[in-house]
Amino acid sequence: MANFVNLLLLGIFMSANAASAAAPGCEVGDVDSMRFDCHPEANPNESDCVSRGCCWRAATERNANYTKHSGERLRGIPYCFYPSTFGYKISNVKQDDSGWSADLSLASNGGPYGADVKQLRIVVYFEDEDRLHFKIFDPANSRYEVPIPVPAPPAGKIPQVNYIVKYSEYPFGLQVIRATDHTTIFNSSVGGMIFEDQFLQISSLLPSSNLYGLGEHVAPMLLDLDYQTISLMARDRGTPHSENLNLYGVHPFYLNVEKSGHANGVLFLNSNPMDIALQPTPAITYRSIGGIMDFYVFMGSSPNEVVQQYLEVVGLPYMPPYWSLGFHLCRWGYDNATHTAQVVNDMRKMGIPQDVQWNDIDYMDRHLDFTYDKTRYSSLPDLVDDLHKHGQRYVMITDPGISSTQSAGSYLPFDDGLKMDVFLKNSSNQPIIGRVWPGETAFPDFSHPNAIEYWTKQVKAFHAEVPFDGLWIDMNEVSNFVVGSVQGCPNNSLENPPYKPGLGGDHMSTKTLCMSAKNYNTTQYNMHSLYGYFEAVASMSALKTVLKERSIVISRSTYPNSGAHGGHWLGDNNSNWPDLYLSIPGVLLFNMFGIPLVGADICGFGGSTTPELCTRWMQVGAFYPFSRNHNSIGSPPQEPSHFSPEYADGMRKALLIRYSLLPSLYTLFWQAHAQGATVARPLFFEFPKDPATLSIDKQFLWGAFLLISPVVDADETSVKAYFPADRWYDFYTGAGFDSKGESRTLTAELDAINLHLRGGYVTIKQDAGLTTTASRMNNFSLTVALSATNEAQGVLYLDDGVTLDSYETGQYSYITYQVNNGTLVSANNQHSVYTPTGGKYVQRVLVLGVDSPPKGVMLNKVPLSDSDYHYEASTKVMVVDLSSHNVLINSMYTIAWL
Ligand code: GLC
Repeated sequence: MANFVNLLLLGIFMSANAASAAAPGCEVGDVDSMRFDCHPEANPNESDCVSRGCCWRAATERNANYTKHSGERLRGIPYCFYPSTFGYKISNVKQDDSGWSADLSLASNGGPYGADVKQLRIVVYFEDEDRLHFKIFDPANSRYEVPIPVPAPPAGKIPQVNYIVKYSEYPFGLQVIRATDHTTIFNSSVGGMIFEDQFLQISSLLPSSNLYGLGEHVAPMLLDLDYQTISLMARDRGTPHSENLNLYGVHPFYLNVEKSGHANGVLFLNSNPMDIALQPTPAITYRSIGGIMDFYVFMGSSPNEVVQQYLEVVGLPYMPPYWSLGFHLCRWGYDNATHTAQVVNDMRKMGIPQDVQWNDIDYMDRHLDFTYDKTRYSSLPDLVDDLHKHGQRYVMITDPGISSTQSAGSYLPFDDGLKMDVFLKNSSNQPIIGRVWPGETAFPDFSHPNAIEYWTKQVKAFHAEVPFDGLWIDMNEVSNFVVGSVQGCPNNSLENPPYKPGLGGDHMSTKTLCMSAKNYNTTQYNMHSLYGYFEAVASMSALKTVLKERSIVISRSTYPNSGAHGGHWLGDNNSNWPDLYLSIPGVLLFNMFGIPLVGADICGFGGSTTPELCTRWMQVGAFYPFSRNHNSIGSPPQEPSHFSPEYADGMRKALLIRYSLLPSLYTLFWQAHAQGATVARPLFFEFPKDPATLSIDKQFLWGAFLLISPVVDADETSVKAYFPADRWYDFYTGAGFDSKGESRTLTAELDAINLHLRGGYVTIKQDAGLTTTASRMNNFSLTVALSATNEAQGVLYLDDGVTLDSYETGQYSYITYQVNNGTLVSANNQHSVYTPTGGKYVQRVLVLGVDSPPKGVMLNKVPLSDSDYHYEASTKVMVVDLSSHNVLINSMYTIAWL
């Protein structure tokens, strides 16, 4: 394929120089897959097409696919396509300390959407060994650029890099080639580059069709490249819907896995509404309606490395508090505090783990933020107090819309907002007014320099009344029940851009504010999709100031860097089996985006769940990094405590397994925070060379060590699970097998979820309590899953779970486990500052895959008595009982067996 593409490119460059009076450069369209759509809007016709300077010709292959799609867009091989002569010409290339720069001059027709920027500048930064950064912008007029923190380009000498950058002169295109295997990772030498005031377009040939990312969307994990156009613009929209429509968050980042199993990634750092067109060439076309072209290219070469490299740019995930990894329970429609407290009590009575109780908008007084209903919710402070006494936590919803209709002096959140001038404004410089739950509202501009102080003040005042532990920030796309504002929107080019991304027929301001509404220093046209991001920044900052300990912000709308300030839930799904399945690719997607604290509404939000669906969903949800059961108003109850033992037992069992694995899960979050790892991970991240893994999204991994193979269909008592070539052990029995890369049918009774440990890894467990507070008081155990070569390794990160910046300030312990030649070495010599309260011990060590009965076992070279260990021949599991030996979890010790 690589050769094919190179030849085609050669063809393009030659044809660019060839004289063809009728249609210069149209030969490129002889190969259907090399056509790039010049008329993405509905109803293309020849005269429009030609007036754009483009070529019109029926497709030679697959004409049948040229059909209407989504009622508006066309899908299939385009009849109207760019000639290979369309675009800019490069000149004045100058090398400098951090890369090179050049001028780009428009040398053909411009785009059809007005005001071409005829003179552009490109700056190419060789930023890091595996990261190339380039920007194409208007040197004469500064334009909006995405204001998230990114690393400064290197000053001084260009580092040694693992890539080669080439360009074609006319039409200008950039090629980025990974040096180690000469794979072309990015290649925009295909014509059709446009830079207009309100339309930016660039296409690139992809090294392979295995493409992931480009969220937020609800879809299978592997993207479909059959002429699909994905729209990105933050939007309040229930899920799922057509896979490509814009949803709550915007993440213009993809990860691509090549035939070799190597991976690469690209970020288009742009926050204006955009379309991203995919075609089977394979190729990608970005069409944004503003900003600049700002791209990062990541060489990988493993999927894990691509994500790490991506997170070096957009920010590592924050370190969540330990309690946030417990189970969360929520619903819309607890009519009063007593009802809420009843649910907590039922969970306790039934012995089902729960860490956090949540409230939805029901708790508020007339849906006003930072108030609570003094009648229905009069006992809310007592409820929170009771939760705290039981080592549990409380989180409630806060929406961004601040009621603008309360009498002056009666509602400080609005009065303060006016005084501090923090609301988004309309064209008359008055707060723009929309309508949300409390009626008419103003909307804080969280990008305003006063916003953090304003929001902190409100958070602090409410916390003095109700001592909550975290914030759920919803409706922050920003969502608005009227189009634009209560006064509508002006008629201008921001409201009606010449190119409108495919938003499912919406106006630009459907369900949100006017595009010309004003932020502190730009407009919603640019900043719309960053609303939730900036709210998360302000909310996390406020929580740090007020609580002075780690907390959670769970946001519906997200953008790159959101993971540095909190987590995400996947929004309004429904209680049905397809939504249960789709939650898995959703969770995996956000792990790739650097927001590992993510989960879907367990048991489904809208509609009525069934006991069977809810049990299966609780089993999957017990393995969401963020595990919360949430339900819509009017839907029947779905708290685990609501079900009969037949179902509740399976839910409890899954949660108890989660709680027993918390030390390992917390360590994964630390690896995400410190090293840019994913927590929940697709199989292909660990086995990218196995093509069978590339589309698997009904199973997933925790880190590298735990394979989760849930039931996601009704009436099943078995599940077909794929096992990549490796040694795997049944989580429950410890029995192992070597897979050659094969599917197996596993029994899956209603009360259990299939789990397998991967050979080569040490899993650290702690006996489960009914809260994380209780669990942390218990002792530990280790499960050593030996590889086929009888080796294993593991790590454990420990801290107090709540102190801010424990890792950054060194208040933690880090323990490594190495197993080989029948010896486990636990070492704490890298960093050992934190000791669990009261000292916690290793009670048991299970070694899986021990081929023959041990002749003896030694702790620190001293033989243990025969009663301290036993061997189960049928499963090849050796159990070492250390309960009488006082082995501290964070100590240095060896266990050897012969
Ligand atoms: C939105 C949220 C949902 C919440 C509801 C009421 O639909 O996505 O989770 O329950 O608003 O606040």
